[in-house]
Parts: sequence; structure tokens; C-alpha cells
Amino acid sequence: MTNTQGSEYTKLADVYDTLMEDVDYGLWADFIDVLMLQHHPDPQTVLELACGTGSLSYALRQIDDYRILATDKSHEMIAKARKKKDKSNNAIQFQVMDFLDININRTFDVVVSIFDSINYLQSADEVQQFLSQTQKVLAPNSLLIFDFTTPKNSVKSIDYLDDEEGYTDDGYRFIRESSYNPDKQIHTNSFKIEELADDQETVIQQYRETHQQRAYTLQQMLDIINESTYNIRAKYDGFDFEEADEQSLRITMVLQCPNTQ
Ligand SMILES: C[S@@+](CC[C@H](N)C(=O)[O-])C[C@H]1O[C@@H](n2cnc3c(N)ncnc32)[C@H](O)[C@@H]1O
Repeated sequence: MTNTQGSEYTKLADVYDTLMEDVDYGLWADFIDVLMLQHHPDPQTVLELACGTGSLSYALRQIDDYRILATDKSHEMIAKARKKKDKSNNAIQFQVMDFLDININRTFDVVVSIFDSINYLQSADEVQQFLSQTQKVLAPNSLLIFDFTTPKNSVKSIDYLDDEEGYTDDGYRFIRESSYNPDKQIHTNSFKIEELADDQETVIQQYRETHQQRAYTLQQMLDIINESTYNIRAKYDGFDFEEADEQSLRITMVLQCPNTQ
């Protein structure tokens, strides 16, 4: 057995969809779709950032004829996303791209990023960089929609995230260890991913990946956004249309580009 230390979302890409099998991306896409229609007069083009294996984009395409470019920093996640593409679904383009270095020469009606991806940004400066990079691909009045998780969520979720174990259909076992440092607001997830022999017991190879995300309070995120030129259209509590507050576990922000940039 060999131990291999990988960077984020390399080997995890092989088990990601199993890890997420309880996540209802259809419901999440319905929520994002309503937000787009509520806050934009005629959304047609969508750029997804940190799309992972593309589940949100595929679900959005089921709802409407959106023209979607879905991007992620991880080559492995994008490869998985492309593999899920069937013949009827050529309407989504996939591209490897770091959302801190956006290099696309056109604008979109909506830029969206879900599922804690922004929490990978570990400082206010990085979030600022994200906000200014996204403005490169938004026209006046276009929307930026993203969610982030809060320290309350990290404290609450540790119990069920820590020691989580699962198996994929194609011979992998994974174990997640999860911890949270409340002083630094840093949530660490360490994954052990084992490639199993046909007997489903013998470990052929073992991989490890460690992920660190920063939890932000609502006020911290508002302070960062208020330094940018974005207008805040709305802030929602989880998947509800209730306004987020300091008790919220996950917050979805809807920002709008100013009329003139
Ligand atoms: C928790 S996953 C969410 C994936 C997807 N949005 C979903 O809902 O399943 C976080 C994703 O963020 C991506 N990511 C992290 N930092 C990134 C960056 N700087 N630029 C682009 N993608 C990034 C990772 O590669 C990973 O696919």
C-alpha cells in the first residue's frame, strides 16, 4: 500500500458524488432559479464558479434553457463533470479556472457559486479579490449569487461530519475527519481515501487530502462586501426566503453590479 498526499479535490473527485449523495441539487437549483428570476429581468447566461462535478449546472439546465459555462480550479472535478454529460446535454461548457483569476472575455447575466466554495477564501483580502474578479464578467445590473457558511454552522456540523465513512460503487472507501478552530474560524476536513481490491477489504493505495475553509459571520461578510462597489440585493437564510441574520448557518448573498462600472 502506498500513501499519497494530494492537493485539494484531486483524489476526492473520485468519491465526491458519493460524499454528496444526500444533497438535493435539484432543490438547490430551484432556489437559485427563483433568485435569478426575482432579481434579474431576463437571465439567460450563467457562469458557475467552483462548479465541482457540475451538479448544480446540470440541475439548472433541467429547469430552463440557460446557456451555462461551468468552471472549477480542479482538473479532476471538471473531468468528472464532463463525464456526466450525456448527448442531450451539450448546452453546458466546462472549463478549468481559478475564480481568483477569471480570464473569460465576455459577460454573463448571472455568476453563481454554491456550497461553501467561497469559504475556501481564508482572508478578507481574498474575498475582495474574488469580488473584483467577478466584476470582470458581469454587465451592469448582472447578479453575483453565492453562499457561505458561518461559525455557527461549523460548531453544529462537527458531530456528523467527523468520522463520516462511505463507499463508492467503484471500489473506494473514504473517511472524513473534521475539526473546527473557533478562534481562527478555520474548519479543517481531512479525507482518507482508500482504493480497495475486489475483496472490498484489501487496500491497494491510500490517499490523503486536507481542506481548510474559513467560516464567516454575516457581519464579517457584509463588511467585506461593503468595501466593494456591489449593491446588496438580498441575503437569505439557507434555502428560505427569510432574511439571514447572525443565527443563520448558511447564507446566500445576492449582489448586483452597479449601473456604471
Ligand atoms: C465544496 S466543493 C463545491 C462544488 C460544487 N459547487 C457543488 O455544489 O458540489 C468546493 C469546490 O470549490 C472549488 N474551488 C476551491 N477554490 C477554488 C478556486 N480558487 N477557484 C475555483 N474553484 C475553487 C474546489 O475545487 C471544489 O470543486
